[in-house]
Amino acid sequence: MSAAPDRHDTFARLLHWSMAVLILAMLFIGVGMVASITLRPTLLALHRPIGIALLVLAVVRLVHRLRRRTPELPRDLPGWQRAAAHASHVALYALMLAMPLIGWAMVSAAGNPVLLWDDVQLPAIAPHDPAVYSVLRAAHAWLARALLAVILLHLAAALYHAWIRRDGVFASMAGGRGGARSG
Ligand code: HEM
Ligand code: HEM
Repeated sequence: MSAAPDRHDTFARLLHWSMAVLILAMLFIGVGMVASITLRPTLLALHRPIGIALLVLAVVRLVHRLRRRTPELPRDLPGWQRAAAHASHVALYALMLAMPLIGWAMVSAAGNPVLLWDDVQLPAIAPHDPAVYSVLRAAHAWLARALLAVILLHLAAALYHAWIRRDGVFASMAGGRGGARSG
């Protein structure tokens, strides 16, 4: 079997950074939507199509991830940090898929059209039912908080690798020179 690569490939890096920007934007758009009645219609019109685009990108990314070898973590990294890295990546993938699906189901359960733009509309994926809506609405808000918490931990870990350990883990996703992993 060939050796593990030093860095994530270009497509994986492109997906990682474009999705990171869009997911962070979606968290702010979501909060803005519930905080401002005036901005709500405009923000909601952005939130739905960007959210569905993120669902498609998350599926493409997961398929790409499962088909390729990714860089290995440095050999001297403590076991608990390896486990934390693995668990947080699994949680990020799960939340990247769950958030848009729950959003879509929630709008369906509210009995509203899942409009992407003008007259492009997705089918309902949940029954029109206030009780189902209420559960999905709470799940969408709580999982958004969980997503933000995992992203902040992930950011802290990335900066720990970049600035303290300087072991090539950050460069493997950032691109450019110096991607070789040490340890
Ligand atoms: C990665 C994808 C997504 C993220 C990160 C996200 C994030 C958020 C956040 C942070 C809120 C505010 C929650 C609160 O503070 O109560 C929100 C609300 C909302 N989201 Fe999403 N969302 C995503 C996808 C979607 C999708 C695909 C749809 C629909 C097709 C959707 C529909 C909604 C609606 C309708 C609300 C507002 C509900 C209300 O005002 O009662 N979301 N979202
Ligand atoms: C919404 C924000 C983000 C999400 C959802 C996210 C998600 C992920 C996921 C799932 C991985 C695992 C590799 C893969 O399969 O693609 C990963 C790797 C990585 N991320 Fe992020 N990321 C985000 C933001 C960031 C930020 C802001 C940084 C740095 C400042 C960062 C740095 C890294 C690095 C260095 C790796 C490589 C880790 C390794 O190869 O072991 N990420 N990210």
